[in-house]
Amino acid sequence: MPNPLRILTVIGARPQIIKAAAISRAIAKQPLGRVTETLLHTGQHYDANMSQVFFDELGIPAADINLNTGSGAHGATTARMIQGIEEVLQRGEHDIVLLYGDTNSTLAGAIAAAKLHLPVAHVEAGLRSFNKRMPEELNRILCDHCSTWLFCPTSTALSNLYREGFPERITTTPSADHPRVMLSGDVMYDNSLHFAALARERSGIVRDLGLTPDGFALVTVHRDHNTDDPARALAIVRSLLAIKTDHHLPLVLPLHPRARKMFDQLLPTGILHALMHDPDIHILPPAGFLDMIALESHARLVITDSGGVQKESFFFQKPCVILRPETEWVELVEHGQAILADADPSRIAAAVAHFLGGAPLECPPLFGDGHAAERILNELLDRR
Ligand code: UD1
Ligand code: UDP
Repeated sequence: MPNPLRILTVIGARPQIIKAAAISRAIAKQPLGRVTETLLHTGQHYDANMSQVFFDELGIPAADINLNTGSGAHGATTARMIQGIEEVLQRGEHDIVLLYGDTNSTLAGAIAAAKLHLPVAHVEAGLRSFNKRMPEELNRILCDHCSTWLFCPTSTALSNLYREGFPERITTTPSADHPRVMLSGDVMYDNSLHFAALARERSGIVRDLGLTPDGFALVTVHRDHNTDDPARALAIVRSLLAIKTDHHLPLVLPLHPRARKMFDQLLPTGILHALMHDPDIHILPPAGFLDMIALESHARLVITDSGGVQKESFFFQKPCVILRPETEWVELVEHGQAILADADPSRIAAAVAHFLGGAPLECPPLFGDGHAAERILNELLDRR
């Protein structure tokens, strides 16, 4: 048997820990000695309910290395991450660096690896919002253009890369100069399928909150351009209060720590009080993954600015109001399952009324077959 493929996986933010679970599961099924994975956590997310809970619930092995960089200013934290990842890679113990999504941890991994001439495998490659004011848009473009393997979750992502000049096929061994682009499917879809039954068995959150299936809206807000902009934060919260009142629809908001902090700082006292103390608005700490997919699968409606939550609402065939001006997951909007409402109260109200009025949804299987992780791992094992 050849030497094992030695993967360094870089994670740091909540959604990356969740995504990494799918490939870690696929690695665990490989024969002993075929592949090893070192898990490096940058420490970008550090609260137990933003990090450890996902290791526990999704059966991810403990991180081998934690850089404890924390979150903060982009330059300072990304620099600490690059330095820490570089030091690990300089030991010469890894063949490939595996990266997920579009966070600062992704960017740091890409820069550290590419400068040491180590191949980068990017999972969730090719997504574009075409809005470079989003830190994530910069991170994903830069990471894609350092990568040797680009695993696209959707055909839209594949087309985006072709448009940027990535080759449709290569005849040489993949490298940063001759990258291999492939439609893999979405590891988050793998996870939703894999964990849905466990969530049904283990999560009692809907009942514990006194809610009825299809009798509440699930809301998440964490994008910096919503939470850190007083006018947008206020418009969103006012819209939520109106939805609850106008439609008698209880709301569940597991609040990201960024939103919690910024709402406290930016919202007028009366509005903050109305949000925090309404018996029909359930403000929760960040939820674990099983509770989250239980909430998604039982909600009447999802309202979110999260990329992952948008998609999971599609997987569970729930309508979604997107609190952004654009989305990378354009298929959802094209199929009528999601509406872009930005932070505009009239668009949010119209989208909610449209869906609560029973608009038909179309949720075809656009995100693969639930085996994206195996496909990605096999590609890495076969093509080195
Ligand atoms: C990051 C990602 C974003 C992703 C999101 C997932 C970047 C640029 N952004 O945004 O793409 O959608 O994670 O959730 O990488 N905080 C805590 N405890 C934690 C983590 C964060 O209190 O465990 C608070 C801190 O006040 C911190 C703030 O949240 O300053 C923002 O954290 P940060 O990681 O910088 O960005 P996110 O908004 O979480
Ligand atoms: N998520 C979770 N608990 C929460 C909010 C989100 O487990 O309170 C999960 C969600 O189900 C999805 C992922 O986190 O799998 C999405 O991450 P997030 O919204 O933080 O970031 P994004 O996807 O926008 O980058």
